[in-house]
Amino acid sequence: MNFTIVGATGKVGRKTIDILEKSKIKIDNLFLVASKKSVGKIIYFKKKKIKIEALENYNFGKAKITFFAAGSIIAKKWVPIAAKKTIVIDNSKYFRMHKDISLVVPEVNESALKNYKKRNIIANPNCSTAQLVLVLKPLHDKFKIKRVVVSTYQAVSGAGKASTEELFSQTKDYLKNKKIKSKNFTKQIAFNLIPHIDEFVKDGYTKEEWKMENETRKILDKSIKMTATCVRVPVKTSHSESVNIEFIKPYSLHKVKALLKKAPGCKVIDTQKNGGYITPLEAEGSYLTYISRIRKDNSNKKALNLWVVSDNLLKGAALNTVQIAEALIKKYIK
Ligand SMILES: NC(=O)c1ccc[n+]([C@@H]2O[C@H](COP(=O)([O-])OP(=O)(O)OC[C@H]3O[C@@H](n4cnc5c(N)ncnc54)[C@H](OP(=O)(O)O)[C@@H]3O)[C@@H](O)[C@H]2O)c1
Repeated sequence: MNFTIVGATGKVGRKTIDILEKSKIKIDNLFLVASKKSVGKIIYFKKKKIKIEALENYNFGKAKITFFAAGSIIAKKWVPIAAKKTIVIDNSKYFRMHKDISLVVPEVNESALKNYKKRNIIANPNCSTAQLVLVLKPLHDKFKIKRVVVSTYQAVSGAGKASTEELFSQTKDYLKNKKIKSKNFTKQIAFNLIPHIDEFVKDGYTKEEWKMENETRKILDKSIKMTATCVRVPVKTSHSESVNIEFIKPYSLHKVKALLKKAPGCKVIDTQKNGGYITPLEAEGSYLTYISRIRKDNSNKKALNLWVVSDNLLKGAALNTVQIAEALIKKYIK
């Protein structure tokens, strides 16, 4: 089977190439596409040189599955064109809430893939949503979640390669006592944090918060109430989340821990002593989503607190898209 990655030179595109290299998917040809400025650049895949092609001239009929990792402006224009000739798995926010398009985290709602032919497009959720629903799913199945309150601590790589460079350059300038320039972020990110991700929408919320709330409900259950505060922090990779979950049914902490220990794609690290929890640096490069600090909410006997960390470029983006492709190939593509 042939595959294409649009946005192959970006943060998510590069990771998609790495994951495809390790995946069991049998790949005959991989085509790599980016903007005009990258045309002719070489990227290696399984020791073979692949030349970057320009999006404008690209023939989407060459591949059965195409990963898009080039942002929502590109997705809006090019995904519908591509989807006439190839199955598209899109990382952008553009199609996620469209009613005819499945938004999929395979461990949680793989069966939604059965509708992929309606538009030939499958949407990949927001990075903060993907890691959260993995944790919520087994708890919702057992105790029925009433409400979730989440605060995120999101790494700069979630905003792409230029934003990651901005953290590095600002850090160097700060340490050299030089003037700090902010271009990709609204304020200085080095030695700081910014309680604002994506644009403001309504009622004082940001689009990132809106996405988390609505995508979680679309993937898991529309009846779940949810509220989010999304914060950008000066961490290179891995998003962290402080999560408060209120159940409809009474729960036991023992059972919660047992369920989370078996949750697909997750690992519990929670010894409740110095260092007995996961930090973003430790989650970087791992395919797993980590859960720590699991404890009762002492202000509400039906509620629970926990800490979730995952590599935003892996489960939050590239890994999830490759898992979608694997599931499609295994069960849904004839
Ligand atoms: N980063 C994350 O953690 C994360 C998580 C979930 C979803 N996503 C989503 O994934 C997508 C990619 O994010 P990213 O972080 O990888 O961004 P990025 O590092 O900025 O990379 C953007 C990619 O898009 C390409 N591109 C830009 N303009 C283009 C054009 N006019 N024509 C063709 N290609 C173009 C770039 O190619 P050039 O190098 O040639 O400019 C580059 O390959 C976004 O929709 C983002 O919201 C990201």
